[in-house]
Amino acid sequence: MFIYTTKTSLERHLKAFRDQNKTIGFVPTMGAIHDGHLSLLKKSAQENDCTVISIFVNPTQFNNAEDLEKYPRNLQRDVETIQSLSDQIVIFAPSVVEIYDDNTVAESFSYDGLELEMEGAQRPGHFDGVGTVVKKLFEIVQPAKAYFGEKDFQQLQIVKKMVEKTGLNVLVIGVPIHRETSGLAMSSRNERLSERGLQQATYLYKVLVEAQKLFVFENPVKVQQFVESEFKNNPNFDLEYFAIADEATLKPAVEKEAGHKYRGFLVAHLEGVRLIDNISLN
Ligand code: PAF
Repeated sequence: MFIYTTKTSLERHLKAFRDQNKTIGFVPTMGAIHDGHLSLLKKSAQENDCTVISIFVNPTQFNNAEDLEKYPRNLQRDVETIQSLSDQIVIFAPSVVEIYDDNTVAESFSYDGLELEMEGAQRPGHFDGVGTVVKKLFEIVQPAKAYFGEKDFQQLQIVKKMVEKTGLNVLVIGVPIHRETSGLAMSSRNERLSERGLQQATYLYKVLVEAQKLFVFENPVKVQQFVESEFKNNPNFDLEYFAIADEATLKPAVEKEAGHKYRGFLVAHLEGVRLIDNISLN
């Protein structure tokens, strides 16, 4: 097992691969490793000679101090989970100082408006923080390919845009959402739910599947109204937003246009935990 906490020690390890023209795949995470992360690691291991996973809870992408403080951290357990998949995966678990020196601030990015929708509107500065840390990590790891889950679909589009704008030589690959058999999207935040909450949280995917069925013959506005009324009738949840958006621009859809791909995006709170999910609608 290879675990590094400093850039220099990681770079030394990766140099041996680079010198032999071997490819490096990269999976950036904030830890609390679950099967969704393992599916990203498996894909990277299939497609590359060496796979690196970073475990770093990035302070600049949290706009809520309590959320940052409560974010689950358990490096030892994460290492064991990764090891259960392979002992060849390289773990990079740096400190905040190692990544940011003494300047823990986000760079400002323009993502051509992708950052203004949904999560960007609800969490000001969040995507500047994500872009900042992903750019720093890409510069350190210099992967050929990097893997991101479609659960954070807006983040995936933002990272692709950041790479396009900065000219970094990384292929960003989206991997479908990994779900529990109950349908619940796997997420590090699920750890904060009680047993009862985990049962109740399956409601999110059920509503998304209903919305997908309705979208076949109804316009986006009607589907949106349906989802909002479902949540009004369910006292367990506090719906933050449901939006139907064009996959490419992330702009809200009012009418269906031929040749466009649409997705439904959902954020709801349960037991004080912010849950996020989405579904392809066509
Ligand atoms: O999706 C995450 O876990 C984080 O946003 C990421 C991409 C690792 C950046 O901190």
